[in-house]
Amino acid sequence: MKILLLNGVNLNMLGKRDPFLYGTETLCQLENKVCAYGKERNVQVVCRHSNSEGELVDILQQTDCDGVVFNAGAYSHYSYALRDCIECIDVPVVEVHLTDVNARESFRRVDVLTDVCMARFMGKGVQSYFDALNCLICATKPTEKQ
Ligand code: DQA
Repeated sequence: MKILLLNGVNLNMLGKRDPFLYGTETLCQLENKVCAYGKERNVQVVCRHSNSEGELVDILQQTDCDGVVFNAGAYSHYSYALRDCIECIDVPVVEVHLTDVNARESFRRVDVLTDVCMARFMGKGVQSYFDALNCLICATKPTEKQ
């Protein structure tokens, strides 16, 4: 199984950006942890990042992966382009956020991606990514014959 780990706008600033909220780990360190977690479960994790909404759409449209773990960053709160894209691709997308967006500013409580994603995990830092990966592993497991 091959899973795309896609991080969006400003996630490349992890490590420098508000460490109280986001921790001190860099994006590269986070990606390495998710890759290692996947490897232990026989899942290949392919990592991509972009700050650009259009490039994120291109990456999602072109992916050959079996599922996507996606942190769109602030685009989650208003990008109808990403929402439409997730809705029309055949690949399951699980949304993640490092922080609990419902416990922050009111504009973050609006999330236009949630109802086109398979599930959403948030508020647990890197553990949210692990939970999203596990969700995709369970969902895409071939059904066992009785
Ligand atoms: C975030 C939450 C968003 O509201 C914010 O704009 C981000 C990061 C998170 O991972 O907690 O960039 O997606």
